Amino acid sequence: MQKTRFIIGLLALVMVLALTACGKAAAAENASTAAPQPTEAEQTADETAEANGAASGGNILIAYFTAAENSGVDAVSSASVVTVDDTAKGVSQAVADMIAERTGGELFSIQTSVVYPADMGELIDYVAEEQDAGVLPELTTHIEDLDEYDTVFVGFPIWWYDMPQVMYSFFEEYDFAGKTIIPFTVHNGSRLSGTPATIQELEPEATVIQDGFTVSHQNAADAAEDVAAWLDGLGY
Ligand SMILES: Cc1cc2nc3c(=O)[nH]c(=O)nc-3n(C[C@H](O)[C@H](O)[C@H](O)COP(=O)(O)O)c2cc1C
Repeated sequence: MQKTRFIIGLLALVMVLALTACGKAAAAENASTAAPQPTEAEQTADETAEANGAASGGNILIAYFTAAENSGVDAVSSASVVTVDDTAKGVSQAVADMIAERTGGELFSIQTSVVYPADMGELIDYVAEEQDAGVLPELTTHIEDLDEYDTVFVGFPIWWYDMPQVMYSFFEEYDFAGKTIIPFTVHNGSRLSGTPATIQELEPEATVIQDGFTVSHQNAADAAEDVAAWLDGLGY
């Protein structure tokens, strides 16, 4: 019942956003050159970070999961997308890019063999079933050498008030003992939804920053200044 009410609310919000942000939607349609390659994003991040005098790469990893890179279609066609600087990308990826630009950290896209539906309604149903069944989706990307990193930013969308199941696969695969995990989420109202505490339970020997960053889907494209202020507060 609660899920049904949420679906109705979510779809209503999506419709309002679609109507009020038709300019953005048109821009996304026009960005026909599809999703940016992670290497380009990394390059941009490194260049900007270096221009800002930040150490490039270093010991910071920014791992993120986003529907747009796991739905078998380009970003423009995916269920969840935002347009930043005329480039369509997954919402969590947009925030990950902002963190990378500011910190010079390396980007890592968490990907799975599951091909999530590109249609929003189908995605909502699929994810509800996946979560109810407690599925741990298989990961197809792997961090080459976790020892290189002291600090790992971890970002994802809130799906049904929780982390996507693939994030449980992620925390099952790696032991972050002795490292600092800094969560960030994108959402449509649920904010962090208790996920930093969940991550701390899954990684009891890591330091999980509870003051994670969160931004709503509709504000994500313009979140760079808020991301920068949050990072400043954390000393980055
Ligand atoms: C299956 C599904 C479930 C969702 N559940 C929630 C939720 O419980 N709370 C919320 O605030 N937003 C929820 N959302 C909205 C997403 O968190 C939001 O659209 C996010 O920006 C998507 O990020 P992405 O483009 O990186 O995948 C849900 C979206 C989907 C597709």
